[in-house]
Amino acid sequence: MKYTYPVTRTTHPKPKPADENNLGFGKYFTDHMFIMDYDEGQGWHDGRIVPYAPIELDPASCVLHYAQMMFEGMKAYLRPDGKLQLFRPDMNAKRMANTAYRMAMPVLPEDILISATEALLREDKDWMPKAPGTSMYIRPFIFGNEISFSAMAAAHYTFIIILAATGAYYASTSGKLGTSRIYVQDKYIRSAQGGTGFAKVGGNYGGAMRASEDAKAFHCKDVLWLDAKEHKYVEEIGTSNAFFRINDEVITAPLDTGTILPGVTRDSVIQLLKEWGVKVSERRLSFEEVLAAAKDGSLKEIFASGTAAVISPIGCLNYQGVDYPVADGECGEIANKLYHDLYGMQTGVVEDYMGWTYPLDITVE
Ligand SMILES: Cc1ncc(COP(=O)(O)O)c(C=O)c1O
Repeated sequence: MKYTYPVTRTTHPKPKPADENNLGFGKYFTDHMFIMDYDEGQGWHDGRIVPYAPIELDPASCVLHYAQMMFEGMKAYLRPDGKLQLFRPDMNAKRMANTAYRMAMPVLPEDILISATEALLREDKDWMPKAPGTSMYIRPFIFGNEISFSAMAAAHYTFIIILAATGAYYASTSGKLGTSRIYVQDKYIRSAQGGTGFAKVGGNYGGAMRASEDAKAFHCKDVLWLDAKEHKYVEEIGTSNAFFRINDEVITAPLDTGTILPGVTRDSVIQLLKEWGVKVSERRLSFEEVLAAAKDGSLKEIFASGTAAVISPIGCLNYQGVDYPVADGECGEIANKLYHDLYGMQTGVVEDYMGWTYPLDITVE
């Protein structure tokens, strides 16, 4: 189905960021946003592009109390020929549908997500940053928007997309990806079986902030989460999926526990490693096994994967106050090659040999 959305243009365009090498993450929002409503019995309706502005919410709006909401995160990339492209947006739409079911929210059809994203990008294409490593971060989100104190699924929802010109995630040192220190979290948990770990909902992130803050005391950027039941198996790193290379096997936590967010980048990493003939296993891995491998030298690499940073290598784990370096503390060869090919495909400088990119008919001058 072909969708067109009415546009109300801003009469007060904002100044564009002066320094594209210092954009940060989620600081420079564009001039417009997309909004659509959902009402029980009517479905999704009235998609429109309007000037980016604060939204009015009744203080009794249910999302402010019971957090019935979900969000997504994806990026638009600028190719060398000046065209914009997305990366596997169908996966984000599928994850939204799974999240919607878990949160008793209405499913947003894939063609609405993609057509609305494309329409908004077209409107704000002049905001597309051009400096190396930059991109346009796309944040779609949906929330229950009903005035009610009853802790029940809402009958009215609001869907919004906002865009943020976003900087390179990593300070790269000497052309290599920089590594991070990660704190092994054995007190707090991110998600339990039967909970919402596989869904992209705000509550998962609010509940993780104490642990991330505490990690800073150990000079760590974020945490390695262990499973909720036994505090034994490795799960995710901060807001990314985690990969461990022990000798020649690359291991990541399986999805069947329902506690792991099924990352688009995670799936891409697994498929690429298989394509390259690298042994990759989705299996439970105990932290004990990781520690033993760190001690005997068989732990070759740890890296996190996600839309924000693509691949982020880990140079050191801190467990109960003791540092355990990962190999030589530098970015490993698999992480480096994954970054090269994945980011290269996303930005159109490496041929997309997996058929993952989604070119848009939008040219940036
Ligand atoms: C908890 C969590 N895990 C993993 C990821 C990585 O997912 P993706 O590769 O789709 O960005 C994210 C980021 O969205 C996340 O928030």
